[in-house]
Amino acid sequence: MEVIIENSVQDICKLAAKFVAKQIRTKPESVIGFATGKTMVGLYRELARLHEEEALDFSGIYSFNLDEFVALDADHPCSYRRFMEEHLFQHVNIDPDRICFPDVMSSDIAAACSDYEDRIKKVGGIDLQILGIGVEGHIGFNEPTSSLASRTRLKTLAQRTMHELARHFGSVDSVPAQVLTMGVGTIMDSSKVMLLAIGQDKAEIIRKTVEGPITGLVPASALQMHQVAKVFLNDEAAQSLTLKPYYRWAYEHKPDWQRFDR
Ligand code: GLP
Repeated sequence: MEVIIENSVQDICKLAAKFVAKQIRTKPESVIGFATGKTMVGLYRELARLHEEEALDFSGIYSFNLDEFVALDADHPCSYRRFMEEHLFQHVNIDPDRICFPDVMSSDIAAACSDYEDRIKKVGGIDLQILGIGVEGHIGFNEPTSSLASRTRLKTLAQRTMHELARHFGSVDSVPAQVLTMGVGTIMDSSKVMLLAIGQDKAEIIRKTVEGPITGLVPASALQMHQVAKVFLNDEAAQSLTLKPYYRWAYEHKPDWQRFDR
């Protein structure tokens, strides 16, 4: 894992966006896995700016979102499809035919999940998976004790997650208890993964993810086994890391040929 720390939220979002931009510029038909949540807002704003001001071209990419709420209409104000439209898709030149979500309205959920896996395979697999992290260590909606080999499937949300989501839905009772999410195994199959975390409330789970044991109790810790995993943190999210000075030093001393930020 490479841990990259910047002091401000704006700076870490800019750096994370540069990594995504490099992927898209290197391979215009990249398959990108997108995440949702408040952490992604700054990253997507920066990607939209790169499109607007630096001609970052989204027209060739395929997008696969990590997860969606079961039986929630795409037009619902809290759907992740709607989130992506509002924060990214409507601001860039992405081809609507290349936007993919798991089919949460399907009458055959198991078939919808294996179909999602097939669609990812058909376009050659995910080149870069973007991730946020839940306070209990979920990536996508892989709650604690998720199988580290899991594929796209239905998950029932942890109550803590439902309480976190209640601020969007108005009340806990309005939050759908079930979701379709890529599995940890699906995420691990991506060629590259990047995780973005911001704020003090993520500091403890980031410590467990990066420096703790690999365990299904912290699904994000599986990323320690990924060959190309970058963890982008602002200073607050990094504050509990034991080796924080080393991560900063190592990043500053990267050789030029390894850098994506210049
Ligand atoms: C949701 C999403 C995750 C996201 C997490 C953190 O549970 N399914 O993909 O990483 O929220 O969200 P936030 O960035 O709002 O803290």
